[in-house]
Amino acid sequence: MSQGKSARKTVFVLNGPNLNLLGMREPEIYGSDTLDDIAGRLEDQAQEMGLEVDIRQSNHEGHLVDWLHEAAAEEALAVILNAGAFTHSSIALYDAILAIDVPVIEVHLSNPAAREEFRHKSLIAPVAKGTICGFGALSYELALHATRKL
Ligand code: DQA
Repeated sequence: MSQGKSARKTVFVLNGPNLNLLGMREPEIYGSDTLDDIAGRLEDQAQEMGLEVDIRQSNHEGHLVDWLHEAAAEEALAVILNAGAFTHSSIALYDAILAIDVPVIEVHLSNPAAREEFRHKSLIAPVAKGTICGFGALSYELALHATRKL
């Protein structure tokens, strides 16, 4: 049975390519927290907010598309999406976000606008509810708190 939007409690946190290497990967840009560290904090904060987080990572674009569809099928409250490099290239993710009735919050650890030119374009931003970037691991926590405004 379809639930009212106010009854929605699950936030999907989807992570794209190379984010499994957080903590080891270019720590001067992405920080020293691992994805597990970030996940642990999000789980604690979600619990305090009366929410649940479902945190996943894949290096494969199609998995992210499938998970966006799943978030819609599960009637998730929101998706927090760090699509990694797919941010700058994926029409499939753009289309998937348009296809679902779940708000997507784009996050990045770094500030792509302050980096190489090829990172300045996001295919996620035009179809996202909003974007939070540049605050390292805190970007994810800010995104979780932003779900209060949905
Ligand atoms: C990133 C920024 C992207 O440009 C990059 O390809 C990543 C990580 C970030 O979180 O800062 O993989 O999404």
